[in-house]
Amino acid sequence: MDIRSTLFLCCLFFLNISLSQDLIIIESSEYAIVLKKDSLKRLQHVYFGSKASNLNEYRSIDKQLRYEVKDAADLPNHVYTPSGTWNTSEPALQILHSDGNPSTELEYKQHIKKNLGDGVSLLTVTLVDPIYKTEVLLFYKVYHEENVFEQWSTIKNNEVQAIELKKYASANLYFRNNDFFLTQYHGAWGSEMQPETHLLTSGIKVLDSKLGTRSNLYAPPNFILSLDGIAKEDTGKVLLASLAWSGNYRFDFEKDRFNNLRLIAGANNFAAEYKLGANQIFETPHFIYTYSEKGKNQASINMQRWSRKYRIHEGEGDRLTLLNNWEATHFNFNEKKIVALIDQAKEIGIDVFLLDDGWFGNKYPRNNDRAGLGDWEVNQNKLPNGLSNLTKKANKRGVKFGIWIEPEMVNPKSELYENHLDWVIRQPNRKEYYYRNQLVLDLSNPEVQNHVFGVFDNLFIENSNISFVKWDANSIIYNAYSEYLARNKLPQSHLYYEYVKGLYKVLERVREKYPKVPIMLCSGGGGRVDYGALQYFTEFWPSDNTNALDRIFMHWEYSHFYPAIAMSSHVTNWNKESSIKFRVDVASIGKLGFDIEIDKLSEEEKEFCKQALLNYKSLQKSIWHGDMYRLQDPYENPIASIQYVNQEKTSSVVFSFLISQRFQTFYSNEPILFKGLDPKKIYEIEEINLFHREITEINQEATYSGEYLMKFGFNPIVTDKRKSVVLKINEITL
Ligand code: DGJ
Repeated sequence: MDIRSTLFLCCLFFLNISLSQDLIIIESSEYAIVLKKDSLKRLQHVYFGSKASNLNEYRSIDKQLRYEVKDAADLPNHVYTPSGTWNTSEPALQILHSDGNPSTELEYKQHIKKNLGDGVSLLTVTLVDPIYKTEVLLFYKVYHEENVFEQWSTIKNNEVQAIELKKYASANLYFRNNDFFLTQYHGAWGSEMQPETHLLTSGIKVLDSKLGTRSNLYAPPNFILSLDGIAKEDTGKVLLASLAWSGNYRFDFEKDRFNNLRLIAGANNFAAEYKLGANQIFETPHFIYTYSEKGKNQASINMQRWSRKYRIHEGEGDRLTLLNNWEATHFNFNEKKIVALIDQAKEIGIDVFLLDDGWFGNKYPRNNDRAGLGDWEVNQNKLPNGLSNLTKKANKRGVKFGIWIEPEMVNPKSELYENHLDWVIRQPNRKEYYYRNQLVLDLSNPEVQNHVFGVFDNLFIENSNISFVKWDANSIIYNAYSEYLARNKLPQSHLYYEYVKGLYKVLERVREKYPKVPIMLCSGGGGRVDYGALQYFTEFWPSDNTNALDRIFMHWEYSHFYPAIAMSSHVTNWNKESSIKFRVDVASIGKLGFDIEIDKLSEEEKEFCKQALLNYKSLQKSIWHGDMYRLQDPYENPIASIQYVNQEKTSSVVFSFLISQRFQTFYSNEPILFKGLDPKKIYEIEEINLFHREITEINQEATYSGEYLMKFGFNPIVTDKRKSVVLKINEITL
């Protein structure tokens, strides 16, 4: 191509104009999605993959495709497949129009691209039904450097009367390939994020949740899709995706007759038809994905960088190390015990003490999980001097004070339930069913939204020195029925959607008034972890299972989607048989905290924790703000290894853990190949977190080039005597 046409194409690109009205190109720094209008004004997906160096090349991709088969009208690769006309596949959109007609056609009308600054652009495509004038906007937000795409849609009813949305996807993608492997996750309380990988065969595979509030418990709203064989850490084509939605979701993977894959992602339409009034607009949740042709690790780095920069609340900020009393005391505490724990936090250098469940309820004291939830006054027996006395005592000792709440839920044995039965999600004419002895409040009701916001707000009004909040949500939704929707003659099928919208309205208000307070997203363990909620939270609780060995596996899986700065990891007594060093080392791979009685530790153990906390602080640039590399898989190796590298590549840390207890797997015979360093820089290696008088087996005098460490590797010498090894790698300037 000559210089003039190159300049012309560059101009088109920067002016955000497409090559022709028929072609829409959506590009990040490395990848592209290409859409093209056909003769029936249907917008088709024609390409998904690495970018072309010459924009002109995208023009003729569709000429090679043969989806319009003779004597058949259907099309597999529509950008937002409607239903009731030519479509015979799983639809993205299904509407019952006001006259009872179930068919929708979508014709391309226009598109506009906007540069939003800060490396972000937004493409809006308008599609319209030629008969019913339903207007669908498809949004494609591109985070250029991170290669992350965010997609959602809005549906506008332009009829005179209400229509019913029966299916309303966020995104509808099309992948052309030979084979597709899906890694999906399942779990239960204490065993969240269990991966399963399998080949997608023809037909439809559906992943979904119907739990209402905490989908991550059984099936997280995330998946990994490998194109062309199962992707490895550093090789393979892989899509890593997540629905930013804290409620029911649904992913359809349809392997079609061309052996290609249709992906439809969005809120679950199960029991959730949405009645949309004239001129009203419905907005879907946002679907977030990144793509890499360099394997899973690069995809995770993309996602983690994106979430720190653009999504997680204060994702590029700092965090507090924390001591929680839940595992140490459960409901059984009083002021004296709490002050003793605050003293212990102070003794080893922890930033904040967090008072967990059990501090409230008087008529129905919260002494177990069967009563008191919803009654947010301080329990007079346990804490006669109130919370402010505790905050004062903590602050006097130089420790910040945090508190646990679960404002969306209620025990039937509570004053809240007695006084506001109509606020509770329950069937009026059926038996109640409980999850952890509690019920969910109806956040579709604005009065309930005010109440939930008030629980948070009042704490701060009454105790100005609260510095941290843990927001729990233990119950799923049974008996989905809203008294509020019934009273307002709105369909019950709106409840699942309006619950989540109501929750976000509350969290929006919380963040408007309290932008700086760190808030942990907790849900009976890792029940609610998603990028919808995480825009309001600084961190999440991955699981109530804090067994260090299990947490290595969980962290490994969560790390595909979420960065370490957001993953609270606490040292507890769940597996007391592991040494305190092993437990602290494992907790240090995330956002370090403790949930034990520190005064039950020996002097050596306390000394170790103190030093480990200082070491952790010195590693924050790598662990919190750096890139993570999964070096050795715990599922496949007796030794697991994880590395963090700061953005400047001057400092790094490698954590290695003995996973297997089997004879002769105790020794790391082979070096581990480090990653992410600068091949030209020279580094020294120091072993940190050594317990008491332990002498390192590492030669700390030697220096290594980044190239050496990445090409030949380094042996951390993990053995049955050295079950966890933490290596700090620093650049030395000669
Ligand atoms: C479930 C949480 O995951 C725990 O950490 C703890 O806060 C309990 N709830 C309290 O009831």
